Amino acid sequence: MFSICIETSCDETSIAICRLEDVVGHAYQNLYGKINSLEVVGALTHSQIKNHQQFGGVVPEYGARLHAEQIHSLFQILLDFVSQKTSLQPRDVLSQVEYIFVAGEVGLVSALRVGQEFAKSVRYFLQKQTQKQIELKVISHLIGHIFSCFYQIELKKDWQTGILESTTNVVEQFQDEEIFPHLHLLVSGGNTQIILLSSPTNWQIVGKTIDDAAGECFDKIGRMLGLPYPGGVLISQIAVLEEQNYFDFPVSMKHADSFNLSYSGLKTAVRYFLQKPPIKGFVIEKPLKKAEILELLESPLENLNFKLKFIKQTCISAQTVIIKQLINQFGKAIKQFNPKSIGLSGGVSANLLLRNKILEFGISPTFITQLPLTGDNAVMIGLAGVVDKSFRLP
Ligand code: KG4
Repeated sequence: MFSICIETSCDETSIAICRLEDVVGHAYQNLYGKINSLEVVGALTHSQIKNHQQFGGVVPEYGARLHAEQIHSLFQILLDFVSQKTSLQPRDVLSQVEYIFVAGEVGLVSALRVGQEFAKSVRYFLQKQTQKQIELKVISHLIGHIFSCFYQIELKKDWQTGILESTTNVVEQFQDEEIFPHLHLLVSGGNTQIILLSSPTNWQIVGKTIDDAAGECFDKIGRMLGLPYPGGVLISQIAVLEEQNYFDFPVSMKHADSFNLSYSGLKTAVRYFLQKPPIKGFVIEKPLKKAEILELLESPLENLNFKLKFIKQTCISAQTVIIKQLINQFGKAIKQFNPKSIGLSGGVSANLLLRNKILEFGISPTFITQLPLTGDNAVMIGLAGVVDKSFRLP
């Protein structure tokens, strides 16, 4: 049996076709087993980043149009791939589809609608063709991010086609008692949350940003520095694992009693700082030349000219402070809730410094989302769909 999974919540159009055979049987009664018995037969994601870069951020209506332009051809390419891989005719693959999972709830409304309308048309067509009921479920994008950390079967990507597939690498099994209570740090472009899961279906948000999300802060600082959207990716590639706060940027929420986070203070502090920079030649928000970005990526601090050295130091300081706050607040929550396991997910969880810092808590098991699943993707929608179907989410 197959599921079709769809994600269009922001600037990625993503479709996955997953095999569900064992998941619905009684072989796996726990969350970890169910999630890891899902096989990603193929998943394909088209990023709109290049289209939005000229505007310095995502333009929702334009993004929705791009989803509408892309989604049919992505589905066709993926279906052909799955058909070849499984030696089934495309219509036979489709006749084995029993579930369609589509992202909903959190995201850009017009973008989400494209995915949901596409899901409805596919279901209509399949039901007509096969004369059977196909279940269509709208899945919370955020729950998708959370459950992606538990998928430990290695995924491999074909760099020519861009298609992602599960490998057959066997994973360690964990019982629910070894995982829950689970404390989770979800850090993406639009959300920053600390979530306590006492079971797969029972959770509460114990901390969240009271203003900007961490990814948004990365991107806005990137823009001030003249880096193309999304700045978070480039800041992390420029700063790598260096940790230093050269310019004393503020770490917010240090003394807060809650586990909440806040990034607008840092964003404003960096803006004021960059409006009157301590060096000549730097102009806030002036796009850097390609050659300058390459130099920032490749050269150590001591080989850079004044302006680029200043930009690199700002990247390092911003990353240090953004991550310090995440780790401070998550660390406080760990002390308070004493979880059996911890997890990390969302676009910003691709950040190497953050991944290392989470491991430094020394909690076993620690579930860190594998890199191909950190950004928005359809596989995570399928994973949350499995949990939803097996356990019924509230
Ligand atoms: O989860 P995601 O793809 O989209 C949302 O659901 O929001 O996250 C995108 C965010 C962007 O802000 C991007 O700059 C950030 O994730 N990001 C990173 C890194 N890779 C992506 N931020 C810091 N370090 C990275 N390596």
